Parts: sequence; structure tokens; C-alpha cells
Amino acid sequence: MSKQIVLTGITTTGTPHLGNYAGAIRPAITASKDENVRPFYFLADYHALIKCQEPERVKQSSLEIAATWLALGLDTSNAIFYRQSDIPEIPELSWVLSCVTAKGLMNRSHAYKASVAENVESGDKDPDKGINMGLFSYPILMAADMLMFKANRVPVGKDQIQHIEMARDIASRFNHIYGEHFVIPEAVVDDNSATILGMDGRKMSKSYNNTIPLFEPEKKFKKLINKIKTNSLEPGEPKDTEGCTLFGIYQAFANEREVVEIRQRYAEGIAWGEMKKVLFEKINEEIAPARERYQALMEAPDHIEEQLQEGAKKAREISIPFIQSIRESIGISRISK
Ligand code: TRP
Repeated sequence: MSKQIVLTGITTTGTPHLGNYAGAIRPAITASKDENVRPFYFLADYHALIKCQEPERVKQSSLEIAATWLALGLDTSNAIFYRQSDIPEIPELSWVLSCVTAKGLMNRSHAYKASVAENVESGDKDPDKGINMGLFSYPILMAADMLMFKANRVPVGKDQIQHIEMARDIASRFNHIYGEHFVIPEAVVDDNSATILGMDGRKMSKSYNNTIPLFEPEKKFKKLINKIKTNSLEPGEPKDTEGCTLFGIYQAFANEREVVEIRQRYAEGIAWGEMKKVLFEKINEEIAPARERYQALMEAPDHIEEQLQEGAKKAREISIPFIQSIRESIGISRISK
């Protein structure tokens, strides 16, 4: 049986946080240890340009994200770990895909529609204000990421499911016109991760500015956990686990037995201060060793770069011949040898 290709990317606009970790990185690293899997993990730095025009931030974020994956024990002998921008065949494929993608499909993209809705709500007369073409055609670049490496499974957060559905549409359309070149990818969503909320109780997301960075120094990390918003129930008053930020995060780190125990303690009225302590210890136990490796890696950017270059080399062994066959299939090739 040939190996399942699992592929995922992280946009390089911020510092990896608990939500990224529980939702994307941790399951991806676990999958990378499965012998039946061939993982492709990458830094989506071209995607970053859509929302971030601060070069230093994009660069710093790439470094931090790469260091995070390596610190968490990504096995780069099995996983192909690369930077999207090191693979020029990806933007090339993205253009080819644009030409088989209905504009109407992109009109329906949640990310685009949300930006339009924001403009309309704020009473702007231009509904497309501040929206660049990168945002509009974001799903096409993402489709190219997946289709280039024939991804079978794509682990993502819920908010990305639509993008994978669009990639499936685009791939089918291309295959219908030019023959079966692309594998149709499938989204994989880890339901446990759906509960990770941020410090303010909304979904943990860099766009809400409510994240808890994964590898903050221990003291600072503890402080951030202590700042997570709770309600004002007193110690001894029974508390609801449903919709509780602390509980949601705890659930993503604890085993079943521990979750049952903590539910019981909620019913018995655990104090918020105590719950924060329990939560801090639970997470810290899991990430402390990686935090040390992270700090060491951040001081050795050459080592990180070397790993990325190696990954790019392996990725291009696939992307160069593949784009060649795509070019031929669409009628773009040398006229004569
Ligand atoms: N859009 C994804 C996100 O913001 C990142 C991403 C880019 C991605 N290309 C991808 C994820 C391809 C999976 C597959 O989370």
C-alpha cells in the first residue's frame, strides 16, 4: 500500500500559540511518526503577505514557526518540511489553477465574504475596501499547496474546511478538462481542538489578539494563563464546564480520566485560581522540554535554515517534474526538442 500523504501549512504572520499547537501542530507531529504516512509540512509565507505587509514580522514568524515544529520533535527524515516560497512551482500552479476556477466560487469564500460584510456593516460605500486579490484568491494558492504534492489528507481547523472543499472543486474541474492529474484532498478536523478559546473567551486567533504563545518563558506563560477571563463565581459555587475557556483548554491536554475528575471538581465549585494552577501545570508538563529546545533553536537560525533547505530540495524533486507534466497537459511546453 502506498503511503498516505498528509499535508498542512501555517501562515507565517504570528507566533505559534496554544490553539495552533493543539489544533494543528500536535496532531501533525503525531501523524509524522506513523509509518503509513508521508507528511508534508510547510510555512505558508506567500499566504502571509495577504494579511501582513510587515517584512520583519513575516520573517520573524517564519523563524518562530520553523523552530516550533523542530523543537516539538518533527522527524525531518520522514516529514518533508519546507517553506512555500522555496518552491516556485507552487505559485506557478496557482496561476494555472486560477484559469480553471470560477470567479463565482471565490465570491463564496467565507474569508472574503467576512471582509465584505465588515465593510458593509461599517457603512463603507466600497464593499471591497482594503481587500486585495491575494485575499480573494487565497483558496487557489491553498489548492496549489495541496494539489502539488497530491495530498490525501489535510489536517486543519474548522475554519479551513471550505478551502479544502474549494480545492476539491478546482482539482475536479482541472481533471475534467485536462485528464486525471490531481488527487482530491480530504480535510481532517480534530474535534478536540475545536474548543480552544482565547484569553477573552472568543476563538483563540491571532486576528483577535487573544492568543497564548506556546513557548513564552515559563513565568510569563503562567501569567497569561492567570489572565484568562472567567465569570465571577466564587470558590465553592458549582461551575459549568460548557463554554468554559479553562476547561476547553484543559480538555485538549488531559486524558479522559483527568477530564472526568476535573468535571467533578467544577461541580464541587473549584476556585478559578485553583483551576488556573491545574491548567498551567498540565500544559507545562507537556511542553516544558520542547520549550528548552525551542530557545536553543532560536539561537541557531543557521541550523533551522539548513533543515528548510533540505526540505525544499526534497519537495522540488517532486514539484519540478510534476509542474512539467502539468505544463504539457495544458499545452505549454517546448514546440520542438
Ligand atoms: N490557510 C491555512 C491557515 O491559515 C494555512 C495554509 C496554507 C494551509 N496553505 C495550506 C493549510 C494548505 C493546509 C493546506 O490555517
